[in-house]
Amino acid sequence: MLPSRYWVFAICLLLTVVSGFALGWTPVAAWGLVIFGSLSLLGTWDLLQRKQALRRNFPVTAHFRYGLEAIGPEIRQYFIESDTVELPFSRQQRSIIYQRAKDVLDKRPFGTQRDVYTDKYEWMNHSLRPSQIDSHDFRITVGEGRAQPYSASVFNISAMSFGSLSANAIRALNHGAKLGGFYHDTGEGSISRYHRENGGDLVWEIGSGYFGCRDDAGRFDADKFTANARDPRSR
Ligand SMILES: Cc1cc2nc3c(=O)[nH]c(=O)nc-3n(C[C@H](O)[C@H](O)[C@H](O)COP(=O)(O)O)c2cc1C
Repeated sequence: MLPSRYWVFAICLLLTVVSGFALGWTPVAAWGLVIFGSLSLLGTWDLLQRKQALRRNFPVTAHFRYGLEAIGPEIRQYFIESDTVELPFSRQQRSIIYQRAKDVLDKRPFGTQRDVYTDKYEWMNHSLRPSQIDSHDFRITVGEGRAQPYSASVFNISAMSFGSLSANAIRALNHGAKLGGFYHDTGEGSISRYHRENGGDLVWEIGSGYFGCRDDAGRFDADKFTANARDPRSR
């Protein structure tokens, strides 16, 4: 008995022969000859080659596996993968960002898709017994007694360089900082002109490139540093 792993190859061979005979009756058989003939050649090549055991053991059918493996990530992404896995952003988080950017409905009616009973599920609840708090804007003074003390909000914009975003993104973030009364960290790319347009407070991040405070040779330039650091909007 022929092992079942050869059946597809054997059927291809058989259908090639049948298509060859059928050519005398109908020209459509030419298609069969081309398709099954090609698969038979492929199977023969699989049987004869010695590099891949899978192809040698499963002539023709091994290619289905390779094909499926190649499109596996897409299949998983579109059909199988849960909407809540994947790092750094799940599909669900990404789609909510797209929806908000397009100003289309971003609410999902009929409850959450998350498992709210897992240990790590977090949420915010309103309190049934609200307490009195002294400060409602949660600000912290940093650099007290120094040259430029600053009353910082606890919510700010974390470092994202101009180079990693865009002019409009920097403008928008800095405008938000101005409206919300919080600071905008420049990121390693330092202060670009777009950071200055909307007047939001800046935290000037000096990365390894010393952008904004380097001389022509790329060394730290104390004068440029002082000039930028004295700007009342950069902290
Ligand atoms: C696009 C992008 C650019 C970033 N650029 C910087 C950077 O220049 N300097 C830096 O210290 N951190 C940079 N970060 C890190 C962020 O400041 C922040 O620490 C990080 O995103 C983690 O915070 P999150 O969990 O709120 O995103 C960048 C992050 C992103 C997403």
